[in-house]
Amino acid sequence: KRLILIGPPGSGKGTQSPIIKDEYCLCHLATGDMLRAAVAAKTPLGIKAKEAMDKGGLVSDDLVVGIIDEAIKKPSCQKGFILDGFPRTVVQAEKLDEMLAKQGTKIDKVLNFAIDDAILEERITGRWIHPPSGRTYHTKFAPPKVPGTDDVSGEPLIQRKDDTAEVLKSRLDSFHRQTEPVIDYYKKKDLVAQLHAEKPPKEVTAEVQKALS
Ligand code: AP5
Ligand code: ZN
Repeated sequence: KRLILIGPPGSGKGTQSPIIKDEYCLCHLATGDMLRAAVAAKTPLGIKAKEAMDKGGLVSDDLVVGIIDEAIKKPSCQKGFILDGFPRTVVQAEKLDEMLAKQGTKIDKVLNFAIDDAILEERITGRWIHPPSGRTYHTKFAPPKVPGTDDVSGEPLIQRKDDTAEVLKSRLDSFHRQTEPVIDYYKKKDLVAQLHAEKPPKEVTAEVQKALS
């Protein structure tokens, strides 16, 4: 399967991805995670991406399209993939269609994590992550067994630099202006499944499974 996960910051894309990935043996391509790794390693890509990310704006289409173009060609992604956080602009969606056409493949489903903006601040400001594994926790909704510590490795958890109420406003603004048109782009192709992303994680998982069956 070739899937796209679209939704605002905190809507649950990164929470559902590992579950879908394991169930269908797909590779998980999260542009945000890849960019954060590049920023941490201070690579040329990371240096270019940092400013936009810190402010909650979007990184340039050319940079993210380049990352995805490279990633979807990898042998590990030939059986299928989950795109988490890409495409985020109509230009990115068009470029993706071109890349897939070259491979003779196409997108099977777009999962739209529909949710009211009002719920997102609490989700974002309470999030803690374990960068090496991508595991995500929440102080209230998904607390780790030991506060500030990853359940599996025992390593420390961190908070994302852009997970403040202030930067969230810009991220939501980018979502409404630049990413919502991408949902319409795929609606025209009849590929969109609507999820009720405000429900508890397990119920969202059940909706995902129904949409993919
Ligand atoms: P990115 O990393 O993609 O961030 P985002 O889109 O803002 O999404 P989040 O990761 O914040 O939310 P999520 O939906 O994954 O939520 P999660 O499941 O963790 O992008 C970051 C930046 O990179 C962008 O701002 C941009 O600068 C750049 N970028 C990335 N891709 C780009 C692109 N294609 N083009 C240009 N620039 C790009 O859940 C959040 C919290 O809520 C967690 O604590 C979780 O435990 C909890 N939670 C999850 N589900 C539930 C639930 N059902 N009920 C209760 N709590 C829940
Ligand atoms: Zn995420």
